[in-house]
Amino acid sequence: MIQIEIRQEQPADHQAVYELNKAAFGQDGEAKLVELLRESDAFIPELSLVAVAGEEVVGHILFSKIKIMDKNGRSFDSLALAPMAVKPARQRQGIGGKLITHGLSRAKTLGYTAVIVLGHEAYYPKFGFAPAITWQIKPPFDVPENAFMAIELVTGGLQGVTGTVNYPEAFGQV
Ligand SMILES: CC(C)(COP(=O)(O)OP(=O)(O)OC[C@H]1O[C@@H](n2cnc3c(N)ncnc32)[C@H](O)[C@@H]1OP(=O)(O)O)[C@@H](O)C(=O)NCCC(=O)NCCS
Repeated sequence: MIQIEIRQEQPADHQAVYELNKAAFGQDGEAKLVELLRESDAFIPELSLVAVAGEEVVGHILFSKIKIMDKNGRSFDSLALAPMAVKPARQRQGIGGKLITHGLSRAKTLGYTAVIVLGHEAYYPKFGFAPAITWQIKPPFDVPENAFMAIELVTGGLQGVTGTVNYPEAFGQV
């Protein structure tokens, strides 16, 4: 079995990351979202990670800057995990899990205290995510409550944080 390495995405990976997202999602919306986010203020190069098997890019995960805004106009800086993709032929081999655990650990090292994700409600809780409504954190659109999740990277990382997530413009452009 070839070893999987997780490393920061490089410009030479961009095309492979596009193709990978397109293949995993069966459409190009998420691939285009990655391209738009890369060009935006929300982009954090250290948190665009690829999983590599030998020379091949087999997975990608991106964490971008978001704000959680409460009704008094206070805003809290956080991160959104989106999108994440593993090459169809390499799914269910633990690559997605590696990308998440490496990503969360790097985000913590960079000083972030929490991450929000909209995704499979049976998958992300394996890594410690819980419904964001636990903290009264809500999405800006209608989604099943349990699919909108959050994780604290440090104890109390979301203490006192409530409100609605404000996504980067790129999310509305694809
Ligand atoms: C979701 C995804 C990134 C997971 O990557 P992965 O490398 O397959 O994940 P892992 O091997 O670490 O974990 C496998 C587990 O993920 C879960 N899982 C994988 N794909 C899933 C899916 N489409 N729906 C629900 N759960 C899924 C299963 O619980 C699986 O465990 P099992 O094999 O014991 O049943 C990958 O399946 C993918 O690229 N899917 C298409 C794109 C996508 O949906 N991205 C996520 C958006 S939230």
